[in-house]
Amino acid sequence: MEFQSGSKEGRLLEAQELGASAILVGTYVEKKAETLLHVEELASLAETLGLHSEERIVCPLRAPSAKTFLGKGKVEEIRQIVQEKKRTLVIFDDEISPPQQRNLEKAIGAMVVDRTELIIAVFAQRAHTKEAKTQVSLAQYQYQLPRLTRLWTHLGRQKVGSGSGGFLKGEGERQIEIDRRLLRSRITRCKKQIQDLEKKRALTRTKRKRQGMVSFAVVGYTNAGKSTLLNALTDAGVFVEDKLFATLDTKASSYVLPNQQKILLIDTVGFIRKLPHGLIAAFKSTLEEALHADVLLHLLDASSSNLLEEIEACEAVLKELGASNKPRIYVLNKTDLPPAKEVHLLRFRCPGLVKISAREKKGFQELTDAMIERMHHLYKHARFCFHQKEYRYAAKLIEEGEILSKVYEGDYLIIEANVHDSLKSQLHRFLIKSSPAPSE
Ligand code: GTP
Repeated sequence: MEFQSGSKEGRLLEAQELGASAILVGTYVEKKAETLLHVEELASLAETLGLHSEERIVCPLRAPSAKTFLGKGKVEEIRQIVQEKKRTLVIFDDEISPPQQRNLEKAIGAMVVDRTELIIAVFAQRAHTKEAKTQVSLAQYQYQLPRLTRLWTHLGRQKVGSGSGGFLKGEGERQIEIDRRLLRSRITRCKKQIQDLEKKRALTRTKRKRQGMVSFAVVGYTNAGKSTLLNALTDAGVFVEDKLFATLDTKASSYVLPNQQKILLIDTVGFIRKLPHGLIAAFKSTLEEALHADVLLHLLDASSSNLLEEIEACEAVLKELGASNKPRIYVLNKTDLPPAKEVHLLRFRCPGLVKISAREKKGFQELTDAMIERMHHLYKHARFCFHQKEYRYAAKLIEEGEILSKVYEGDYLIIEANVHDSLKSQLHRFLIKSSPAPSE
């Protein structure tokens, strides 16, 4: 099986079309059990792309070799499996540098892919909107840039004078230079497009803020059930699939809490361990929705055998986005399934944990109670006075604020309420500033 490694659009998708079966490789210093789980996660990432995997090689590695990442013996072992089983693809759970990748491919005789390339390919396959596609392209181009040499080395080996279709010696190098320039200009174009999209997003956010609604962003490890929860709560119709990264775009839907307050629920991209830095950077504007939300609903998968590490992976991404201090509610989903053994530790790790089953729509009362409770912290006490001609503003306050009292005095309506900052500033001209609220 021959792969056109020069294919710019992802050789992994090509491998999938050719029905390639992969060998998965994971390394560890001390924690073998953890690496076994990581390799299984790698298998489901590959499966998401339609790539099957048969063999798993999990080996200790103290110091990676600069040349081939693994030691000579292991490389030879993999080469033999590749030959015997006619495998064409080897996927590493670790990040492999461009020269290591090149040397490994030569030594093993199969395509070598690392976790980053695999995740980027999954994102590429899942990107549906223009914004998601542009963001993935940026990550892809940035990943390809230092790896271009590999794509054209075969040209350097071509004989001189093989007719108009042939390549001259040094042609490979020239081609690399042309491609590099091309990639750089594509990167610049993508960055510019993303900047424009960011501006649009900021505008939408300002509009939302002006509407005065409190926003909750649902964040969590990929496959935690974010879209299922949003679908169950609203009729957002967010794409749900038992595959990693079904959602690559941010969707926002309004939702009315049981106390009649209208809020905004935001779905976000799933997080994953070692989410490639390039992807975080490229998806920053999408991921940043979490940063701008008032509260995070951090969804956890009760059935995951790697729960604690998944929480830390999400925290790491939130930190990179600058959202680690956001108020949050931890929500343990999939409680209809047998719990993972780490669940009992969550009591300490995730205070105020709310247990739900998004699929069976259970625990929603507790969840919305926790959301209302959390909103109280965001809300400030205020008194407003509306003339009867201005009742439409009063209606807005009644819809979005937490109403404590309503009193009619002649042509005026006096409302005492707990309101979110943005709503308060929006209704600023109706505020009664001089008289303090009775509870103050
Ligand atoms: P990404 O888009 O990858 O970030 O996934 P997500 O977090 O949006 O997960 P999604 O809602 O797509 O759900 C992933 C899988 O988990 C689907 O097969 C859901 O049916 C399943 N699932 C979600 N919630 C529950 C639940 O409460 N119980 C059970 N048993 N399965 C659930």
